[in-house]
Amino acid sequence: MDIKFVKTSSPKARIPDSELGFGKYFTDHMFIMEYNNDIGWHNARIVPFENISLHPASTVLHYGAEIFEGLKAYRTADGSVRLFRPEENIKRMNSSAERMCLPLLDEADALEALLKFVDTERDWVPHSEGTSLYLRPFMIGNDEHLGVHAVSNAIFYIIASPSGSYYKEGINPVNIMIESEDVRAVRGGTGFTKCGGNYAASTRAGKRAEEKGYSQVLWLDGVERKYIEEVGAMNVMFKIDGEIVTPALTGSILPGITRKSCIEVLKSKGYNVSERLLSVDELVNAMKSGKLEEAWGCGTAAVVSPIGKLSYLDEEYVINGGRIGEVTQMLYDTLTGIQWGKIEDTFGWIKEV
Ligand code: PLP
Ligand code: COI
Repeated sequence: MDIKFVKTSSPKARIPDSELGFGKYFTDHMFIMEYNNDIGWHNARIVPFENISLHPASTVLHYGAEIFEGLKAYRTADGSVRLFRPEENIKRMNSSAERMCLPLLDEADALEALLKFVDTERDWVPHSEGTSLYLRPFMIGNDEHLGVHAVSNAIFYIIASPSGSYYKEGINPVNIMIESEDVRAVRGGTGFTKCGGNYAASTRAGKRAEEKGYSQVLWLDGVERKYIEEVGAMNVMFKIDGEIVTPALTGSILPGITRKSCIEVLKSKGYNVSERLLSVDELVNAMKSGKLEEAWGCGTAAVVSPIGKLSYLDEEYVINGGRIGEVTQMLYDTLTGIQWGKIEDTFGWIKEV
């Protein structure tokens, strides 16, 4: 693929790693490529980071035609830069695109764009432990009229943000509230996609949880409000009486790449993992009887985050004495070890830039 490059004439000042936070600062360039039905994807370019100008009738502004991905570029001790399973993000983006009637990407071209873009922004990949360059590919529908149809015009972008940990707690346990009113997604809807609308509809519950001192909500299924689904920005796993359980991918849950990787790591180490329906009643009973040994969330931004407290209907339950559990720690150490090049990648997940 031909990718034009226009170098910025005003490079930005670097932010000290200790002040990064998550998703607040952006690098010097962005990747852009356009689509229309007649010529397909075209005009791929890496240009100085700048505001986007859109027609006021653009589809994305009215009907939420937007999908995105999230992955990270990691710097190893020897200074090299690498990605973790980027092909999985591209496949998931196409699955989101298919559901939202946005154009599919050519997987090889999208990977080339990602690698070329990260190579351009290589100096922006931070060095300190636990930091990375968070990459945000996204696609918008951009027809310039108000009819509601599958779009004929779209734009694909990649932007990047040098980031530290997603939660202010870092690897320390986070407190999560099980949401009993709002729902995030239903089967047949868009829950399995990474579309902006899923997140817009989630913010009211997230805000209420934050006001009560919780980091995020744990969603129940949208029909019966009975089965555990996932957290705002991560999938969830539990160790209940020796069994490792994670909600099955029923269509309303995002098929997380970290979730998939955790399952593969667990299986490689001889653990059984049950992907099944888990009711909130079963979980509450396990918390009451002390059978819930560990709970953790997993996601690109959140990595592996122990859950220290879970609340449901105003009852609060402390998990594992509020400490990180053995399996949670093992998963954190294994995934971050592979990502930052401290342990050998026997799974073939790393893509060098
Ligand atoms: N679930 C939701 C709603 C998310 O936003 C994320 C983050 O991407 C995840 C799960 C975890 O997915 P992944 O591990 O692919 O980052
Ligand atoms: C990610 O983990 O990449 C996410 O997308 C989480 C989020 C900030 C929405």
